[in-house]
Amino acid sequence: MNNLAVFASGRGSNFRAIIDHERMGVLQNVKVALLISNEQNAPALKTAEHYGIPCEIVPGVFGRSFATKSERSEARRRFDEKACSTLKEHRIDLVALAGFMQVLGSPIIDEYYYRIMNIHPAVDLKRFGGRGMYGERVHEAVLRAGERTSGCTIHYVDASVDGGPIILQTNVPVHADDSPESLAHRILIQEHRTYSKAIQLHADGKIGVKDGCAVIDWSGGWQDDWNRRQDAYIQHQMLEQENIVQSAI
Ligand code: GRF
Repeated sequence: MNNLAVFASGRGSNFRAIIDHERMGVLQNVKVALLISNEQNAPALKTAEHYGIPCEIVPGVFGRSFATKSERSEARRRFDEKACSTLKEHRIDLVALAGFMQVLGSPIIDEYYYRIMNIHPAVDLKRFGGRGMYGERVHEAVLRAGERTSGCTIHYVDASVDGGPIILQTNVPVHADDSPESLAHRILIQEHRTYSKAIQLHADGKIGVKDGCAVIDWSGGWQDDWNRRQDAYIQHQMLEQENIVQSAI
């Protein structure tokens, strides 16, 4: 069994999608075993509580102000230390950052090398990723640049910001009348499908990293098996979307 920890600072819809994949038996041999949040009011914490998933609030630098640079670095260091020991306590094998608003430091990255994944709501990470590119800013930049496609990326976390080996990407079209919100929504639907797929690939030992690039072994009909299993989640997700639209009318 692969014990998964999710790090989230906010809404936690990706966290919820991963839980759905586990509960529906789409994710196999993966247990959502822990949520770590650096924000005590994160709605993701309520989701963890609802599903009886252990959670830990570890204060970091997000949402806090510091008098000096060194106080800020100290808070960051304390977060990394506490998060690392919590991961060990819970025997965590893999970490998924999902809307986690803080850059991790080397102690935790080194300890969990290529065992931490991140999701980013864009495909061109050189232009629409990196420091300062988060939330609405990403979609605003994509629209400003006049891109015809965007999407989401799941990558391993290394010392760079949004620069680690790319595991999976899903493209979505950008519409001429898109607002940052409408584009974000279209991408989020794909994020919810793509993250669990990357987690399953990792849990199945299908991802290798060669010369800084992730190489996926698709042999043994992996993709067909996954699609067959994930169909149940996609049906559920589409129903949920319909209900949201219905209740908005
Ligand atoms: C997602 O768009 C994710 O790609 C980005 O932050 C957002 C988090 O959404 N990193 P949620 O908290 O999972 O709903």
